[in-house]
Amino acid sequence: MDNRENYWNNGYFEYFKDLISRTNEQESSAESARLATSDQNYRNAIELLGIIKDQPVLEMGSGFGRGIPLIYAYSKYVFSTDISEVMIDFAKKTYLPLCPEVQFKVCQAENTEFDSHFFQHIVCFAVFDALYQQKALEEMNRVLKVGGTLLVTGKNTFYLNADAEAFDAEVGARKKGHPNCFTNVPKLLSYLDALGFSLVSHRYYVKRGDFLKEKFQIEIPEKFYEYMLVLKKEKDIVIPIGELSLSEPFSETYKDITKG
Ligand SMILES: C[S@@+](CC[C@H](N)C(=O)[O-])C[C@H]1O[C@@H](n2cnc3c(N)ncnc32)[C@H](O)[C@@H]1O
Repeated sequence: MDNRENYWNNGYFEYFKDLISRTNEQESSAESARLATSDQNYRNAIELLGIIKDQPVLEMGSGFGRGIPLIYAYSKYVFSTDISEVMIDFAKKTYLPLCPEVQFKVCQAENTEFDSHFFQHIVCFAVFDALYQQKALEEMNRVLKVGGTLLVTGKNTFYLNADAEAFDAEVGARKKGHPNCFTNVPKLLSYLDALGFSLVSHRYYVKRGDFLKEKFQIEIPEKFYEYMLVLKKEKDIVIPIGELSLSEPFSETYKDITKG
């Protein structure tokens, strides 16, 4: 078991479940920047995929499984996967009675071992920050059918210098050893074709806390904290495609604020 698996198996599970339950209750809207994503955010995101009845759907990093019934409302052909056995065990216990056809698998998003061209949709919600992003995109391209779609959310490397909540969250995550990578979104968008995808829809959340409030822009701002993209697979890519450096553990904003 590598360090990443250890992190997600030990301790994080209880913390995350508690955080989500506080987020769903939205104890205080003033607290929203310190909270996570609500089930309503999840539901709204999945809706964007336009899943048609019983198309095969892969959820990467399904955590304790709160996305399962949301996807199951559209398709019973769901594969729920996560790097953490603890998460998958809990998801299985909780959601198998409600969603009996869901299939579970412990695997890394970067290497799922599913057949190529198998899935019509992939959901990667609140997970991409933890991944080796280029490898994960290559794997998503491999397992998606041509014309299939991918929903992905993440954090942008260029957020506002004045977004103190975002800066504190970045520093805090590093202190806890939380796997956390910031995407260079403009660069990712410029390499979409090389990665075999096209852009179907996009939402940009300028400040930390905006995601929870569903406050987003469609035009890409110069600086923003979070993003949600729906990408369509246009073609197979030949792997490996070379190192594109699409993400890094220290954001450009952090480097700018702390320089000199
Ligand atoms: C912040 S949680 C989000 C879980 C779920 N999507 C949700 O929003 O409730 C991140 C999840 O990603 C999983 N994860 C982290 N790295 C992963 C990897 N390389 N492959 C698959 N899953 C991973 C973790 O175990 C954890 O369950």
